Amino acid sequence: MSNEQRTIVVANWKCNPTSLEQAEALFNSIKKRVGDSKKVEVVICPPFVWLPFLMRASASAKSFGGLAFGSQNCFWEQFGPFTGEISPQILKNLGCEYVILGHSERRQYLGETDEIIAKKLKASLKAGLKPIFCIGETEKQRKQKKTKQILKKQLDVLGKIQNLKSNIKNLNIAYEPIWAISTANGMAARPDDAKQAKILIEEILYKELSTQRPTVRGIKILYGGSADSGNAKEYIEAGFDGLLVGGASLNAKEFIKIVKSLDKI
Ligand code: PGA
Repeated sequence: MSNEQRTIVVANWKCNPTSLEQAEALFNSIKKRVGDSKKVEVVICPPFVWLPFLMRASASAKSFGGLAFGSQNCFWEQFGPFTGEISPQILKNLGCEYVILGHSERRQYLGETDEIIAKKLKASLKAGLKPIFCIGETEKQRKQKKTKQILKKQLDVLGKIQNLKSNIKNLNIAYEPIWAISTANGMAARPDDAKQAKILIEEILYKELSTQRPTVRGIKILYGGSADSGNAKEYIEAGFDGLLVGGASLNAKEFIKIVKSLDKI
């Protein structure tokens, strides 16, 4: 099975774990059990600082023991006087393949705007990274039936990216309804509802935006928001190309269960 056909399962560790020992233990447990997955591409996105340690601990510099690595953010320039920033080129040179961009937590707590996200998308594609571009509506917006409008606004940033067409295969979109992220009671979106949102995203991408860019077909669309081993399969069966997993990716047993459940489909 080629990489393009495999289901993607992304582990978004967010600001966890707080020690290298814990990060290595979590990574090693995951790698041992799902590093050889045939149908699933597992992407580990730890905090920046753990990345080189985990990469070094992996089998070969090329394959990282069957897993891919991603970062949870990056800057919009490749190098220069930008104190505290990590550029897409640094990540690429380190061996990262993916980068999560536009996550709702960064939009909410770090003030990331659509404009900033557009610049980061552009720079990441230029460096050869595969962005996982997060979009999604709040509970209030959903209740007001503004989901399509919000998704459209968020997706509109793609129109600002001149190098999109030549890199379209590298783009992944994660539909993450904000009301379903990190819920204490595991309140994920119902697969049927998520599927409706995926249809809206495709409509926006393929009908409204494709007038300028007929090549947008081929973008992978993932689901994220309280995904776990109990519901993972349902999202893939509903048509999603993969999952962005937060909380459940910090529990090796649970995360392995998710990957295994998709390896059987
Ligand atoms: P969650 O997080 O799985 O804990 O809801 C998903 C995400 O924010 O990417």
